[in-house]
Amino acid sequence: MQKMERYKKDFDAYLVEKIKTKEPRNLYDPIVYILGLGGKRIRPVLVLMAADICGGDYRKALDAALAIEVFHNFSLVHDDIMDDAPLRRGEETVHEKWDINTGILSGDAMLINAYQLFENYDGETFRELAKLFSKTAVEVCEGQQYDIDFEAREDVHIQEYLKMIEFKTAVLVGASLKMGAIVANASEECRNQIYEYGKLLGLAFQLQDDYLDVFGDPETFGKQVGGDIIENKKTFLYLTSKHKAGKKESLQLEHLYSINPKDTSGKVETVKNLFLSSGAAELTQLEIEKYTRMAFSVLEEMDIPEDKKAMLRLFGENLMQRQV
Ligand code: IPE
Ligand code: IPE
Ligand code: MG
Ligand code: MG
Ligand code: MG
Repeated sequence: MQKMERYKKDFDAYLVEKIKTKEPRNLYDPIVYILGLGGKRIRPVLVLMAADICGGDYRKALDAALAIEVFHNFSLVHDDIMDDAPLRRGEETVHEKWDINTGILSGDAMLINAYQLFENYDGETFRELAKLFSKTAVEVCEGQQYDIDFEAREDVHIQEYLKMIEFKTAVLVGASLKMGAIVANASEECRNQIYEYGKLLGLAFQLQDDYLDVFGDPETFGKQVGGDIIENKKTFLYLTSKHKAGKKESLQLEHLYSINPKDTSGKVETVKNLFLSSGAAELTQLEIEKYTRMAFSVLEEMDIPEDKKAMLRLFGENLMQRQV
């Protein structure tokens, strides 16, 4: 655990040094604001951890870690506009504090800034990082589009949901680990295995995010609890509930997800109870465990020392226990 705290501390210090406001203030202030609100810093810590585990100097991975965190925060600024979300990390979202146009443009600048950070790497490392980043970034856009498309669809299949979360969330977790491995010049096999580990962990992570969106503690969660229900998001909870609930409840759920999302009177509470009574809440927990276990089995195959595996395993276990 000590090592993980060190990665986070070093990363936060690096971020403060590199991310500063300048003119025009309305472009840069929101960037400093959103990145300064903190968050768990899961992805940059994974970049540094992977570089360390693969035998590199983890400080050389700080720019890649910053690129990933800046990209992640860009995606959150735009995601909050798309999801009409009022709260992020316990504070106002960028488009609420400023306005939508500011959120769009500051987000755009962040995406470009993320790319620029790879310019600090040479030759083959630069090429590999930029290639992985571009592939991942476009997949995130595809995942985000599916997420939005599914809001208006009634026939979303669980397989489609899983593909959607793989793209919008899991590939970035995988890419974070792979970037660390690239900076450390790890073997192709190791890069691919660590990516697979991250992707499976990322699937568990998004399932947990969807679970907490409904069942998180409003005092500590930092986002609007029930936001996914208000927006008619077709999550694992919803899809499983519809499948497992009785005919009457299933139709009620479908009806609640077809009305104007702004009409929330009683909707969140009713849906929450249906998620519980149908058994979907419990099944989601099992699914989170399933993907975490699958990630651990990939870890077993890896040709790295046992103490390094233990660090990656501990990280996965902590993610599964998280409440925010
Ligand atoms: C939120 O990510 C977006 C998802 C992919 C679920 P995090 O839960 O990692 O957000 P922060 O960075 O810790 O706030
Ligand atoms: C976000 O998914 C995924 C990306 C930002 C790419 P969510 O919409 O579930 O994330 P939160 O819950 O707002 O953090
Ligand atoms: Mg979203
Ligand atoms: Mg969102
Ligand atoms: Mg969410």
